[in-house]
Amino acid sequence: AANERESLFLISEFANQYFQEMLFHSEEGKAIGLTYFKERGFTLDTIKKFNLGYSPNVWDALTKEALSKGYQLEFLEKTGLTIVGEDKQFDRFKGRVMFPIHSMSGRVLGFGGRILTNDKKAAKYLNSPESDLYHKSKVLYGIHFAKQAIAKNDTCFLVEGYTDVIQMHQAGIENVVASSGTALTPDQIRLVSRLTKNITVLFDGDAAGIRASLRGIDLILEEGMNVKVCTFPGGDDPDSFAKRTPLQDMVAYFEENALDFIQFKASLLMKDAKNDPIKKADLIRDMVSSISKIPDRIKREVYIKEVSRIMDISEEVLFNTLAQLVQKEV
Ligand code: CTP
Ligand code: MN
Ligand code: MN
Ligand code: MN
Ligand code: MN
Repeated sequence: AANERESLFLISEFANQYFQEMLFHSEEGKAIGLTYFKERGFTLDTIKKFNLGYSPNVWDALTKEALSKGYQLEFLEKTGLTIVGEDKQFDRFKGRVMFPIHSMSGRVLGFGGRILTNDKKAAKYLNSPESDLYHKSKVLYGIHFAKQAIAKNDTCFLVEGYTDVIQMHQAGIENVVASSGTALTPDQIRLVSRLTKNITVLFDGDAAGIRASLRGIDLILEEGMNVKVCTFPGGDDPDSFAKRTPLQDMVAYFEENALDFIQFKASLLMKDAKNDPIKKADLIRDMVSSISKIPDRIKREVYIKEVSRIMDISEEVLFNTLAQLVQKEV
């Protein structure tokens, strides 16, 4: 119900304030949380702008504080901030640095919390569970802070993670949002499509990042949007890249290395298939399959001609393949 949703909002806002209070004013938060963010290269302005916080390393610090302020356990549980066990209640995000996730209009929908160690056994990030407030397939991290810049620049960078968004903002590139590590969804793309029809995917430079980029391409095309992909060298992600690269060099890097999706797929072939005809054939089919997702017929034709040119294969064969694929879909 609308009332219940409002209760969840109020608790999320309360937790957001609490985590910030702990980060800036508790000894533990300052020593551990603030130090962590500073070591990552975030300035105080950045930390404040993104409402970053700290959840104390105590079983029930937030839960206790919220209950004492009159917030109800039922709603604490529904937001996932509190986990209610058999005989005790405890904080989901105990001992983590906190990244609140805002709606387009700036309300707090949920949180991501990062551990401070590099303990490979614990999940690096914990996120709010699904609730009436937080639907992970419908949010894009950073959209509230990026929306004006996206509209103004008529283009949007799509990254994987919280810190990628934050570091790029700090560097001066504000038209950036994150899918937060989940497989990109049509709802997420539609949030951007209200602001621009142009997306540049900037996923991590590892194998998982490349795979996610490939999956993202078709979804973005299906929404009638234009998609480019820009990859990073080695183990870089936008955060690590932005941290050591001056703004002008970064802008130049994106301009030089962002490839239209067809060029991106072709470049994967150059690396992967070389002169293997079977792999080349698979890749061409794959390209045509992506093209078949494009709603606009003229664009489809333009791209088919491009594939014909760069892959040195007849347009006729490509158009036939496309026709089969487009037919299958209707
Ligand atoms: N993620 C998650 N749970 C995990 C790992 C990742 O929800 N156990 C999500 C987070 O939103 C994270 C994004 O996936 O920001 C990208 O993952 P990854 O590249 O591994 O993390 P980074 O954002 O690079 O995090 P960091 O730089 O803090 O290590
Ligand atoms: Mn809902
Ligand atoms: Mn990664
Ligand atoms: Mn990353
Ligand atoms: Mn990272």
